Amino acid sequence: MKVLILIATLVASTFATLTADEANLVKSTWSQVKDKEDEILYDIFKQNPDIQGRFPMFVGKNLDSIKSTEQFKTHADKIVKAIGSYIDLLGNESNSGAIKTILNELGQRHRDRGASKEQFNEFKTSVLKYVKEHASGWNDASGSAWDKAFDDMYKIVFSNLDGNPVH
Ligand code: HEM
Ligand SMILES: *[C@@H]1O[C@H](CO)[C@@H](O)[C@H](O)[C@H]1NC(C)=O
Repeated sequence: MKVLILIATLVASTFATLTADEANLVKSTWSQVKDKEDEILYDIFKQNPDIQGRFPMFVGKNLDSIKSTEQFKTHADKIVKAIGSYIDLLGNESNSGAIKTILNELGQRHRDRGASKEQFNEFKTSVLKYVKEHASGWNDASGSAWDKAFDDMYKIVFSNLDGNPVH
């Protein structure tokens, strides 16, 4: 029994490695940029045309002209809200089940759309660059907390891209 509990704890901690302080760093910097949905998506597409190219509704279109459309804003809201839902759950062990559920779903839906791990890493680079450049008080500790948050997130997402939901 003790061994089982130990194993369960080790498995759970693989997906929740942020300390309370690190979670707070991610939350406090994210809260400064989360209302900039359009700008965040704009930068992701600008820096990674291959990601824009995966969207049936945006492929081949001029970024500056789609930027002000309803479709663009709707999608920007969706992705920023998805990141925010994950960030809201960080820093509390009791949320590890909920984190797995939302990230398994995210990973499965993106697998169906053919998003690659490389594109997810590009996505991460653009989001981190945006937060770093727009949140005041950013420092090395914020950087490593964000890295950890994305690493934990992508462990689950990538496992799903490989066809293996995390239990
Ligand atoms: C952490 C990274 C990402 C998050 C949080 C995210 C979030 C979302 C959300 C919330 C949706 C809409 C809900 C749904 O239908 O699933 C969505 C749709 C989509 N995402 Fe992502 N996404 C991420 C990365 C990527 C990447 C790297 C690609 C690149 C190929 C991508 C391509 C798409 C496409 C093609 C759609 C469908 C749009 C549509 O046809 O309506 N996403 N994403
Ligand atoms: C952690 O999450 C649980 C379940 O959602 C909640 O009841 C509890 O108050 C949270 N703890 C903290 C410190 O936020």
